[in-house]
Amino acid sequence: MQIDFKNMISPVEGADRITWAEVEALKKRGEAIDADLRARRGRGDLPFHDLPYQDVTSVLKYAEEARGRFENFVVAGIGGSALGNIALQTALRHPHHNLLPEAQRGGPRMFFPDNIDPDMVGGLFDVLDPKETLFNVITKSGSTAETMSTFLLVRQALIDAVGDRWREHVVVTTDPAKGDLRQIATEEGLTAFDIPEGVGGRFSVLTPVGLLSAAVSGIDIQVLLSGAAAMDARLKASALDRNPAYVCAALMYLADAHKGRRIVVMMPYVQALRDVADWFRQLWAESLGKRLSLAGEVVHVGQTPVKALGATDQHSQMQLYVEGPHDKVVVFLAVERYDRTLIFPAAYGEKASLGYFSGRTMNELIQAERVATALALTQRQRPNMTITLPEVSPQTVGQLLYLLEVQTLYAGGLYGVDPLDQPGVEAGKVATYALMGRKGYEQQRVEILREIASDARYLL
Ligand code: PA5
Repeated sequence: MQIDFKNMISPVEGADRITWAEVEALKKRGEAIDADLRARRGRGDLPFHDLPYQDVTSVLKYAEEARGRFENFVVAGIGGSALGNIALQTALRHPHHNLLPEAQRGGPRMFFPDNIDPDMVGGLFDVLDPKETLFNVITKSGSTAETMSTFLLVRQALIDAVGDRWREHVVVTTDPAKGDLRQIATEEGLTAFDIPEGVGGRFSVLTPVGLLSAAVSGIDIQVLLSGAAAMDARLKASALDRNPAYVCAALMYLADAHKGRRIVVMMPYVQALRDVADWFRQLWAESLGKRLSLAGEVVHVGQTPVKALGATDQHSQMQLYVEGPHDKVVVFLAVERYDRTLIFPAAYGEKASLGYFSGRTMNELIQAERVATALALTQRQRPNMTITLPEVSPQTVGQLLYLLEVQTLYAGGLYGVDPLDQPGVEAGKVATYALMGRKGYEQQRVEILREIASDARYLL
């Protein structure tokens, strides 16, 4: 994997882009953060670092059986309990997996209904038969409203279809000890996988949260983990100013805090990495968007992550990125090799809009469009950088996800916030429980109902 950040850096002080002197000036702080992260890892306080080295025998065994038994696999989860799964699926499966004939698919059709829209969730049962379906209910807390309510519907649909055998159609992934879902799993005798203690939702893609669905769909999870381990080794061995996780975090932090680049756009020119950008959006937003610093001061920090897709969004967003406010950094994701090469046939050679394609490839076209877009941004003083993978494979995706997770930890240090908590999300969860009448939230309900009551002056 190669990271090219030339277009982030300006040789001229005071320019729109960061100078290398600014990166250097941050080094002392960077070293303190690095030492702190290494010490916490040494004490076992950052267990997500251990994930590349875990034993996945039980996940593989269960997945192998499920692949043979079920026509469909559905993940019920939300946020960090869904986005990593979806990113892995989009990156590493056939782009039209569910439409392939069964023999070519080699495993179940995969569904990820990570919302509670009644039409979408209800509509799922129009296209799959519960008798042929395995449902993976994923929630770290074991109590998230969206997931637990979907579980109720799934369970009922299964009872209606297969009676007492519904338990064979549900596998849960949750906290090893805490939460209602863990308790239900124990009482009902459901198969359950653990999300290790101390690994939060958005850092859990390499736990059974992401690994089970990946293995069921045929992704080689051992190679995925070996990719993460390779990145771990690279990060551990690098001097700070050559450490890709730290350097990327420092560039983003400086672009935001020093240059007013409040938005980071992740823009893959690889359809398969589209949902890695979506996963990163949550990772960066929930980890860094904080009201309080570690010292308890009100800081309201965080760079807003946006996902875009090349070349598609050149025809939707690029006008804004090139000429709109100077408030963005663009991070391109690229690959050296796509799985396929599509050669344009020679035809209409005399037509200006077609003749030049003859004998060239779609691969060359998308690469040219990415390079041209980076150039257009750079010419307008818009900072941008490019992360290039040799190809999209379990090995390289494992490296990329792990890199972005560690980058987020360094960024948390630079912003001076805790990247592992999410008090704002919790507040929304509490308000939902209160509105839905959950026991223990009576007082909040009274206050919330008062607060949200309509005011005739502001109704049209
Ligand atoms: O990253 C996080 O912690 C959150 O986004 C959670 O993943 C999300 O809120 C879902 O929580 P849970 O897995 O407890 O259902």
